[in-house]
Amino acid sequence: MKVIESIKEMKEASQALRAEGKKIAFVPTMGYLHEGHLSLMRKGREVGDALIVSIFVNPTQFGKGEDLERYPRDIERDKELCKGEGVDILFVPSVREIYPENYQTYVDVEDVTKNLCGTSRPGHFRGVATVVTKLFNIVRPDIAIFGEKDFQQLAVIKRLALDLNMDVEVIGMPIFRESDGLAMSSRNNYLSQEERGAARSIYRALRRAKEVFDEGERSAGVLLNEARRVLEICPLIEPEYVKLADMGTMEYVDRVEEEALLAIAVRIGKTRLIDNIILRKM
Ligand code: PAJ
Repeated sequence: MKVIESIKEMKEASQALRAEGKKIAFVPTMGYLHEGHLSLMRKGREVGDALIVSIFVNPTQFGKGEDLERYPRDIERDKELCKGEGVDILFVPSVREIYPENYQTYVDVEDVTKNLCGTSRPGHFRGVATVVTKLFNIVRPDIAIFGEKDFQQLAVIKRLALDLNMDVEVIGMPIFRESDGLAMSSRNNYLSQEERGAARSIYRALRRAKEVFDEGERSAGVLLNEARRVLEICPLIEPEYVKLADMGTMEYVDRVEEEALLAIAVRIGKTRLIDNIILRKM
């Protein structure tokens, strides 16, 4: 596995792969890798001839007072995990490399970033769209793989790739969970033992709403109340939003017609966690 820090070298390496006729699969991450990230890499191995992973904790997608400084990092461990997954190139640029002095260009995706996390984290998706655009320009992947854990992010990247005529196929992968249902996240690492216990309620709330949906309920009000009631049982959980949204546009819906996304964001102590479930007619 080649480890590359400079943009110039990364561009040359990916150009060389393209010249060999190789289809490049790309998995962008912020590191502190877990099985969720590895599942994206396995998909990348399967669909591409060469697999490139990036690790970059992107400052522009963190708001003031968010966890940029304390975001967990362990690059040596991450390198070993990437090697184990057969990654060909690991791209680990510095902040200065990606945002040099006098940097001033940002990518704003409009409507799809308005709701859900876009409301609670102003500027977040601007940072995500900007860094992903830059990474796509540097790596020039044929296929890029993202997790449905960050479902709105996936919708934003799909919109971005389409709107800006990028020659990249964006693939979404299902949420990888711990055995008790908690969605894997680098941020789970922040939780105390007690908070970790409380975090199980998030998936329980999603499952409860799904159960009621499967019994035939279609009203957003009823489905969301079912989910909220499960969260309320746990005093450590502070819900940020519990919403039902259209899977493509992320507009809120009052009823589920064919399918919809039930999305939850909560705070547990200082930690912000998100999760979601797809409600779809069987
Ligand atoms: P990060 O949180 O490191 O996640 C990298 C990728 O892994 C994202 O596509 C995310 O959706 C996916 N992922 C995280 N947890 C997952 C899980 N439990 N199951 C499946 N996939 C999971 O998302 C980012 O980084 C950044 O915003 C990034 C896209 C790299 C831009 O900076």
